[in-house]
Amino acid sequence: MSEPFSIAIITGSPVRPSRVEGLAELMEQRLLREGFRVRMLHVRDLPAKALLHAEFNDPAIKEATRRVAQADGVIAVSPVYKAAYSGMLKAFIDLLPQFALRDKVVLPLLVGGTTAHVLAIDYAVRPMLQSLDPRLIVSGLFALDKSIEVGEGPVKLCPEVATRLEQITQAFIDGLRAHGSFTNAAAAVEGLTALAG
Ligand SMILES: Cc1cc2nc3c(=O)[nH]c(=O)nc-3n(C[C@H](O)[C@H](O)[C@H](O)COP(=O)(O)O)c2cc1C
Repeated sequence: MSEPFSIAIITGSPVRPSRVEGLAELMEQRLLREGFRVRMLHVRDLPAKALLHAEFNDPAIKEATRRVAQADGVIAVSPVYKAAYSGMLKAFIDLLPQFALRDKVVLPLLVGGTTAHVLAIDYAVRPMLQSLDPRLIVSGLFALDKSIEVGEGPVKLCPEVATRLEQITQAFIDGLRAHGSFTNAAAAVEGLTALAG
């Protein structure tokens, strides 16, 4: 049997409690139920000085970068700040190697306060992620902050957002499975070639 997929969820909200983190935790639980391995990576927990001074060799930064490198799929969850992703998320992305998302399936999730900035996902987040050379970025989700209720326990989503989130999660999983079978096919061809040689 092949290994379960490994997912890194990166969150970019500097505050707590956070709708962004709540959404990320829902994704974590959903993907664990699917049998995937999930590693959460809250950028706010990384050392601020290392992030802002681009200390690539800081142990915590190296470990976070390694988690991304080891993942088959990456979910980036950010608040909308000033019509784009948060600076905190970008500070971490800036420390990743040039092709850090190569061969990976990626899902962007944004939480914002106004639908005026719904296109931040396509005009800001998507080009940033694309620059890291992913195999596939599936359709993401922009959720209004008022559609996510924060309280004790898991956040609650309004029904439309919950439905949309399930649809895009399914697309992400389908993308991973298609990618996994591609990887397995490539490995099989490599094995046959080695045998023939
Ligand atoms: C500094 C700051 C800037 C923001 N800028 C925007 C913005 O430009 N567009 C928008 O839709 N929402 C904006 N918001 C609202 C947040 O995206 C929204 O409240 C989100 O839920 C915050 O995520 P959090 O709950 O994880 O903190 C901003 C909030 C803050 C604190």
